[in-house]
Amino acid sequence: MSANSHDWIPIANARDVPERSTRKFVANIDGNEEECFLVHYEGRFYAYVNRCCHVPITLDWVENRFFTADGRYLQCATQGARYLPDTGECVAGPPCGKFLRRLDVAVVDGVVYARASQTETDQTHPTGGVYG
Ligand code: FES
Repeated sequence: MSANSHDWIPIANARDVPERSTRKFVANIDGNEEECFLVHYEGRFYAYVNRCCHVPITLDWVENRFFTADGRYLQCATQGARYLPDTGECVAGPPCGKFLRRLDVAVVDGVVYARASQTETDQTHPTGGVYG
């Protein structure tokens, strides 16, 4: 990835997003401005569109609070669906088995970048994140 590629957007310095924390940002997805969020989980970074797979609303009620109290899942505040932080798969709740829409993530010179995924719309085979 070239940091100069126009479709990659800088999200944050990796060191400013601690383990099991998130950072919201806006990205152009299929021509629409979408709220998204960056996830730092077990040393890797992931990014998803902030939209529940059950009802298309944002996951966080409290601004930028996505993780469950135990830090194991991303949770929809509306009806409690729980998603795996590293794949975006829903493992509990109404949309069980569905995946959050993932963005590509890259870390270059300590800066985390994201862009709309160039390779998939149906995420039945998500790949891992990027080390920070
Ligand atoms: S809106 Fe997220 S679980 Fe129903």
